Amino acid sequence: MSVLASRRILLAVTGSIAAYKAADLASKLTQAGALVDVVLTPGAEKFVTPLTFQSVTGRKTYTDADLWGGEAHVLHVGLGQRADLMVIAPATANTLAKLAHGVADNLVTILALAARCPILVAPAMDAGMYEHPATQANIRLLQERGVYLAGPGEGRMASGLVGLGRLLETPELIGHIRLVLGRHGRLAGKKVVVTAGGTQEPLDPVRVLTNKSSGKQGYALAQAALDAGANVVLISAPTALKPPVGAHLVSVQTAEEMKDAVLVEAEGADALLMAAAVADFRPKTVAPDKIKKQAGAPQLELEATPDILVAVAGLGSRRPTCVVGFAAESRDLLENADLKLHSKQLDFIVANDITAPDSGFGVDTNRVVLLFSDGRKLPLPLMSKEQVAEAVINHLAGFLEHK
Ligand code: CTP
Repeated sequence: MSVLASRRILLAVTGSIAAYKAADLASKLTQAGALVDVVLTPGAEKFVTPLTFQSVTGRKTYTDADLWGGEAHVLHVGLGQRADLMVIAPATANTLAKLAHGVADNLVTILALAARCPILVAPAMDAGMYEHPATQANIRLLQERGVYLAGPGEGRMASGLVGLGRLLETPELIGHIRLVLGRHGRLAGKKVVVTAGGTQEPLDPVRVLTNKSSGKQGYALAQAALDAGANVVLISAPTALKPPVGAHLVSVQTAEEMKDAVLVEAEGADALLMAAAVADFRPKTVAPDKIKKQAGAPQLELEATPDILVAVAGLGSRRPTCVVGFAAESRDLLENADLKLHSKQLDFIVANDITAPDSGFGVDTNRVVLLFSDGRKLPLPLMSKEQVAEAVINHLAGFLEHK
């Protein structure tokens, strides 16, 4: 999560029962390397204490008690000016109303008025309060002024009501924070298409042929491209993963469906990162009804699926500016990857040896070599799939900058 490393985040917590969840957010942001300054409203202090936040951030937590101290002036201007982003989570209906109308009657609202950094609000309130025309109008006004909105989510509230008004969960809040922090990154304004997961080729209505791909590397690439400010389309075969916040998800099942989606999305795009493990073969016929075991073990006749990267090469001048392939090999890694680099007309290929226990399918780490069309080879050390994704995105950005 290098988009968060050393970034200054001013986290304002207001008086909602969801305030306790803000402690987890402060903790996860700190673990990701961000410098988190927390400010509590008097309402928030009824639910959580400054010590809670001080303990997870290792930094002083501010309250209205600091508003009237000797450092007050420095504080209300300084905290807001130093920050890269102000996050108000949870943001109550009351605080949103104050922000919309420029009321500055506590440290949080003063900071919001003085801040020159972007502001992200994550509403949390009872469904009735959220849907009230006054709250809706306040949120619209804030958005028109450039305030970013995260959520709320739908679900069960503390009151027992079910509806819109829940504070988003920490990973989603962090996704929104990453989007705002990354918006001016090296890929800002670029369209990046990423494919992920293992395609499934149906045999009958309940059975499929597939592979062991988890989709982790592709989803990490989509996140890294978002961190760099790209507009990301994630074309995904079925996985157990949540798509990163901000990615436009196109769900597919088969190689054929993935090819169709890629040809639509990648045409004229800035980059295609083909991380999906596309099935090379599919059953020649799909049984309309479930194959019954009484008939004995069936003989499977397979046929080749289309090669998506070869189809992309056929786009000619409408081909993406940079096309990146992935090669999962169990032997002759560099020779095989080099063959694919040229036969599929790639700009570079990410090769990994799937026989190593710490690399490839299902595990969280990868050990890859990047092979470029000009003959350069760059072996990377053992890394997490997130770090591999960041390295690939950095090379992609460099490639596009020199085009
Ligand atoms: N790929 C593709 N269409 C296919 C199969 C693979 O576009 N039908 C892409 C993969 O997404 C990957 C690259 O081609 O980026 C290499 O995939 P890989 O499975 O390693 O190679 P194959 O071309 O399938 O060759 P082989 O199975 O013989 O290794």
